[in-house]
Amino acid sequence: MAIFFLFCVSCAPKKEKVTGIGSQNVYRITLSDPFGRVSSEFWTAQKLTALGARKMPSSFFDRAMKYSGTQFEAVSLLRIISQFKLKNGEDAVLLNCFDDYQGFLPISEILKYDLYLATRIELESGSDKPGWLNPLIILVPDGKSPPFGERFLTANIRELKFVRSSDYYGPIRQIANTSKDAERGFEVYKRNCLFCHSQQGRGGDKGTRLNNKYPLSSDAEKKKFLDDFKSFHGKDNADKQDVEQFVSDDELNSVMEFLLALKKGG
Ligand code: HEC
Repeated sequence: MAIFFLFCVSCAPKKEKVTGIGSQNVYRITLSDPFGRVSSEFWTAQKLTALGARKMPSSFFDRAMKYSGTQFEAVSLLRIISQFKLKNGEDAVLLNCFDDYQGFLPISEILKYDLYLATRIELESGSDKPGWLNPLIILVPDGKSPPFGERFLTANIRELKFVRSSDYYGPIRQIANTSKDAERGFEVYKRNCLFCHSQQGRGGDKGTRLNNKYPLSSDAEKKKFLDDFKSFHGKDNADKQDVEQFVSDDELNSVMEFLLALKKGG
């Protein structure tokens, strides 16, 4: 039986509303030209679904959210990607969300898991819909096991931005290269924390700026980091941001080595 690590990322109350043209929500799709000039196209749900939308369920979603019978209208992400000429070696899509979460999807994973982008969600009648549960939502179709990154169930997406992963992670990786522990910490951070705790202008800003808040220069300060982590990110987290389930103490220690390396180098 598959084990699902589930919790939702975009659970915080929304500060921002989707910008509308009339009743249509507007989303951005952003890419750069061969000279590095960045530009955005504006897409509505209608324009997305015109690419060929399907009504579909997602048992992964239902299990994650403890719903049943949810229906989506969704478009293949590959179909969307194929509308664009990626000329700069872009190999990933950044998912910028209204609540400052920043998802990161390698195009290889979109291919492997045949991911969809939901433009509409219909919960079974009588179900409560939390405020953050808005399209665009990344959807794992039935018959596929979920990719690692989708433990975080990315919803409320306002922008898809094509990037090169080497550019995206480059500045941080370079700093983390200083020791084996810091390098390992970077990998843990990248897979579990960067979505909400940005570094060097990469990642989301949903969570606290960890570098400012935690000097980590003594054992007592390190303990404070661990204690705060566990008290916020434990099982009881009201917004289901139970990140503790994904990381061991040993991994958190290497995350602190990584944060220290950033302080020295960044
Ligand atoms: C889904 C988004 C998300 C992810 C992923 C995430 N965090 Fe957080 N984190 C938050 C939010 C939101 C807060 C609370 C911020 C506040 O209190 O305003 C927080 C708080 C914290 C705190 C306590 C700081 C404080 O101000 O109380 C620590 C320490 C922390 N996170 C570390 C981590 C580490 C380490 C990881 C990865 C292993 C991680 N977080 C992953 C969103 C996230």
